[in-house]
Amino acid sequence: MNMNEKVYKTKGELLLFFMKGSKRYFIGSTIFIVFLTFLNLVNPKIVSFTVDSVINDKETDLSQKLFPLLEKFFPASVGTPRAYLTEHLYLIAIAVVAVALVACICRYCSAILNTKGAEMLVMTIRNKVFSHIENLPFSWYMENKTGDIIQRCTSDVETVKRFLSDQLTNMIRIIILIISSITFMLGMNVKLTLFASAFLPVVFFFSLFFHGKFSKRFKEADEQEGILSSIAQENLTGVRVVRAFGRERYELERFNKQNEHYYKVWSKINLMLSVFWTSNDFFSGLQVLTVVALGAYYAVQGSLTAGEYIAFISYNAMLVWPVRMLGRMVNQMSKAGIAIDRIAYIMNSPAESDVSNALMPPIDRDIEFSHVSFSYEGSTEKVLDDVSFKIKAGTTLGVLGSTGSGKSTLMYLLTRLYEIAPDCGDITIGGVNIKQIKASWLRKNIGIVLQEPYLFSRTLGENISIGMDKATDRDVRDAARTASLLDTVEGFAKGFDTFVGERGVTLSGGQKQRAAIAQMIIHDTPVMIFDDSLSAVDTETDAKIREALREKSGKATVIIIAHRITTLMDADDIIVLDRGKVEEEGTHEKLLKKDGIYKRIYDIQTAGGLDKEEEM
Ligand SMILES: Nc1ncnc2c1ncn2[C@@H]1O[C@H](COP(=O)(O)OP(=O)(O)OP(=O)(O)O)[C@@H](O)[C@H]1O
Ligand SMILES: [Mg+2]
Repeated sequence: MNMNEKVYKTKGELLLFFMKGSKRYFIGSTIFIVFLTFLNLVNPKIVSFTVDSVINDKETDLSQKLFPLLEKFFPASVGTPRAYLTEHLYLIAIAVVAVALVACICRYCSAILNTKGAEMLVMTIRNKVFSHIENLPFSWYMENKTGDIIQRCTSDVETVKRFLSDQLTNMIRIIILIISSITFMLGMNVKLTLFASAFLPVVFFFSLFFHGKFSKRFKEADEQEGILSSIAQENLTGVRVVRAFGRERYELERFNKQNEHYYKVWSKINLMLSVFWTSNDFFSGLQVLTVVALGAYYAVQGSLTAGEYIAFISYNAMLVWPVRMLGRMVNQMSKAGIAIDRIAYIMNSPAESDVSNALMPPIDRDIEFSHVSFSYEGSTEKVLDDVSFKIKAGTTLGVLGSTGSGKSTLMYLLTRLYEIAPDCGDITIGGVNIKQIKASWLRKNIGIVLQEPYLFSRTLGENISIGMDKATDRDVRDAARTASLLDTVEGFAKGFDTFVGERGVTLSGGQKQRAAIAQMIIHDTPVMIFDDSLSAVDTETDAKIREALREKSGKATVIIIAHRITTLMDADDIIVLDRGKVEEEGTHEKLLKKDGIYKRIYDIQTAGGLDKEEEM
């Protein structure tokens, strides 16, 4: 597979990867935002020009440049531009409205592009994250909690989207506003500008201080939310157990406790937010007050004209807003940073990989386990200990063993759902080490009926033909017949169109097992594994299925794992697994003569001629 070996070292790298496709919308949106920002900056200039140079006839830098320019277009008969404008002040009003109108259009275009970009971004992130998850090794799923993963794919993605769509364009706007406002203000009165901007570092460092605090809390909140959704998800899927054991109260208490924990984390965050915003408001208010008062003083003193005073206050308002926003942005940034890290955790988990030039050899060959030892991640206990055996192509192997003796693990290793560590033995098929074989090829050719079958909420027919590109109704029927399911299905009013509830809840255990068998049989693979797949059907159906299988499987290599000796006694070879070791091996007759574990189990199961189903 080797789909995605890339490691995203920085948040930016990952974001750029996600922004493929949506980037141009964000760039478009930003261009309009830049226009909008400059237009916003124009109106105070027009107002101050009107007050000072049109109404009050005062020479300013702007009037010295603008009037000579206008005179070129003015016929002498009309008079000077200034006189004309004084008489037609409404023209200036129209200009102000026109600027505002164009600004509105810019805002609209920016918003449209931004929304489009944001939606596309979310779609891309979800697709990329999901496709990466699909390629992660089986063991990854065992090590991570479903609820937490789902949360990373939903609310974390949403947080990143909000940051990119709301904050990133705003950031550019804010930078332009701050720089331009200060430049214009400096042009009017240096002292007053210094007073006005003295507050900026205070607000900025104040934000920075809270930034650190928020990050920690948001991370905690996210983790708590993950645990909460895991509990909810576990309860939804495990509802049968909860009901059967009357655990509703316990589970409810567990949920409530976690919910309270989550609530407390958020309460703390909200308290911090209130402190942050209140003090932020206080500083901003203080700043505005200082500028208004000092500005009035300078205006009375004469170092600031009336028009400049109005413009100065407008620009100052434009300065206060971005500085306040800066606080919020920093805040959002920390939240988004955590969310990106959480998504990066998924994206940086190494995908399942094959060796380069992985092989696709024929699988209908001898299978050999040689000195295989295995421990699960994070445990030192040997689940398999130096296991060796051989299955000749086209024969049937029976595997008997107590629960937890490592039977399913053997099959996980054979299909490379888990990998054997280096120097812990090898599995070969036709002499080729399975590590050299493409995992997808291996699984395509080794059919496995899992111990716990899982059906999707689709029709029964769709469930049986899952993974088949082209399966005819006849194929489905044939597979169902071999699995002894046909009669049952024909008894259903809707036959193969019967809708199966989530995880197959609407079927009985035996029906589910037989559907899973049919699901494997339809693929007609050269190797078939039945992991305790006949345990939920009665002995008669068990025999019928095996008989049908024998007819159908022909040359296939079959591995039957079972607790019931009758299920595997016809096998060409039987291994008895005990605590991860092969204790006995041979045919049914040979093993009976041996008077070992196999014989003992046989005696228990057939005592008094009864077919006692004994879980060893
Ligand atoms: N994902 C896992 N992580 C850690 N330990 C595991 C995991 N899966 C199984 N084990 C442990 O490995 C041992 C062997 O498990 P395995 O499922 O192979 O047993 P089994 O022989 O198939 O049992 P059963 O007859 O009950 O199906 C058990 O002790 C089990 O607790
Ligand atoms: Mg098992």
